[in-house]
Amino acid sequence: MSGERAMPHHDRLRWLLVGAGDIAAKRVAAALAAAGELVAVCDLVRERAERTAGQFGAGEVYDDLDRALAATTAEAAYLATPVFLHARQACEVLGSGRHALVEKPLGINAADALQAVFSQSPWRRVASLARLVKNVISIARREMRERKGCDYREYAAPGP
Ligand SMILES: NC(=O)c1ccc[n+]([C@@H]2O[C@H](COP(=O)([O-])OP(=O)(O)OC[C@H]3O[C@@H](n4cnc5c(N)ncnc54)[C@H](O)[C@@H]3O)[C@@H](O)[C@H]2O)c1
Repeated sequence: MSGERAMPHHDRLRWLLVGAGDIAAKRVAAALAAAGELVAVCDLVRERAERTAGQFGAGEVYDDLDRALAATTAEAAYLATPVFLHARQACEVLGSGRHALVEKPLGINAADALQAVFSQSPWRRVASLARLVKNVISIARREMRERKGCDYREYAAPGP
């Protein structure tokens, strides 16, 4: 990862919200403003970015991610854009030395999602892969419970 930034010395992470659509309006913008500081909003449709920024007091408005990353004072970006953009935009955010949090799913398929994971420095890559594996296991467990109506541990139990 190029130009890794130091962790901020203050408690409240400064966020750039990318994508001011449905999920941003329902949940994300308010959550970022509550957990940290929503300082910037970016949407291809500038009016959407302006509206959300106005609601949450974010001073920076962008309609292009490249320009946003070149200028923003945010330390982290939340990607609430369409799925096909997630992995590519995550690489751009990480490449700018910022943290990235991505709406689910991370990519349109495993290869796409892994792009974002492998764009990171070795230690972050290990952490991301561990999280990815944990997610896959928890999805598999849930599916086994739902489809088979039983607990996954029954499959792992030794036979008679
Ligand atoms: N809506 C939900 O209830 C919900 C629930 C779970 C997950 N999600 C996930 O959230 C993400 C967004 O979904 P949504 O329903 O909010 O979609 P949406 O279409 O309502 O919003 C997406 C926004 O991204 C903007 N956008 C598109 N390309 C862009 C770009 N290059 N740069 C900046 N902005 C861009 C669009 O203009 C739009 O405002 C998806 O990944 C979806 O899977 C949504």
